[in-house]
Amino acid sequence: LFRDMIRDMNELGVETIEKQMSVEAGGAHLTVLVNLNALRDESGNYIGMVAVLDDLSHLLKTQRMFAWKEVARRIAHEIKNPLTPIKLSAQRLRKKYSGKFQEDGHVFDECTSTIIKQVDELKTLVNEFSSFARMPASNPSPNDLNEIVAETAALYKAGARKITFEVSIDKRLPILNIDRDQIKRVLINLIDNAIAAVSDDGIVRLETRYAEGLQLAVIEVIDNGAGIPAEIKQKLFEPYFSTKKAGTGLGLAIVSNIVADHNGYIRVKDNAPRGTRFIIELPVKAVAI
Ligand SMILES: Nc1ncnc2c1ncn2[C@@H]1O[C@H](COP(=O)(O)OP(=O)(O)OP(=O)(O)O)[C@@H](O)[C@H]1O
Ligand SMILES: [Mg+2]
Repeated sequence: LFRDMIRDMNELGVETIEKQMSVEAGGAHLTVLVNLNALRDESGNYIGMVAVLDDLSHLLKTQRMFAWKEVARRIAHEIKNPLTPIKLSAQRLRKKYSGKFQEDGHVFDECTSTIIKQVDELKTLVNEFSSFARMPASNPSPNDLNEIVAETAALYKAGARKITFEVSIDKRLPILNIDRDQIKRVLINLIDNAIAAVSDDGIVRLETRYAEGLQLAVIEVIDNGAGIPAEIKQKLFEPYFSTKKAGTGLGLAIVSNIVADHNGYIRVKDNAPRGTRFIIELPVKAVAI
């Protein structure tokens, strides 16, 4: 790689060159900006090269997220507009002509009610789109993360299926500056995914941990379900990516948005011997913005 870049530098006769590329590191795909600079001493003799690598993955992810939000907002807007007149027209037809057709009465009835029903379904879908696009900015306040985790877990413990919920909290965790509702939303999305991934006797585990040295609060949602193939791991956090029949694919997009809003970091790992772990790290000290 460097050799190629140095050759380009020589051909172009320049002292510095920049190139964006994707590399694989530890199973993850990273987009990095490579910057090569020729070093010279005071008399202009070449003494070597300096290479600077910048990880752009996070920046690109944020940019893509913004682009998706914009798309979602426009689609929602454009689709929503004609829906009301379509529905009203179908309702008006029903009111005016219902019972007026002798033979084909049932056809008229079926068709108009299908129109009305489908319009309602479209409306629900569009509303989900636009709620994603208009997700409120987070409103952080001092909160006990362990309490939020316990509260969320309690919502599931009474569930119908036989899934085992395990909760392990680190009592040393300090109070964090976080948005309670949004962190709950994160947990609910991750737990819903975990439940969908495990079989009836599966285990879903919630963990909090205080990484004191790094000043990080760590939350993990672990399942012993089907696991996630490597090629899917990359697309996971993108909006509208789903492998489920009725999935919107917005769950993890929303999760990663909220985590980013909290200056945190989320990643996904394989669980041993099977299943998946989602790991969230949140800064303990408030970060000045
Ligand atoms: N714990 C998990 N185990 C296995 N696969 C997962 C897990 N969590 C997420 N996935 C995969 O990631 C995809 C995207 O998840 P995401 O929550 O964004 O959307 P979804 O769950 O499909 O839809 P929705 O959240 O609207 O129900 C899922 O369709 C699934 O394939
Ligand atoms: Mg989901």
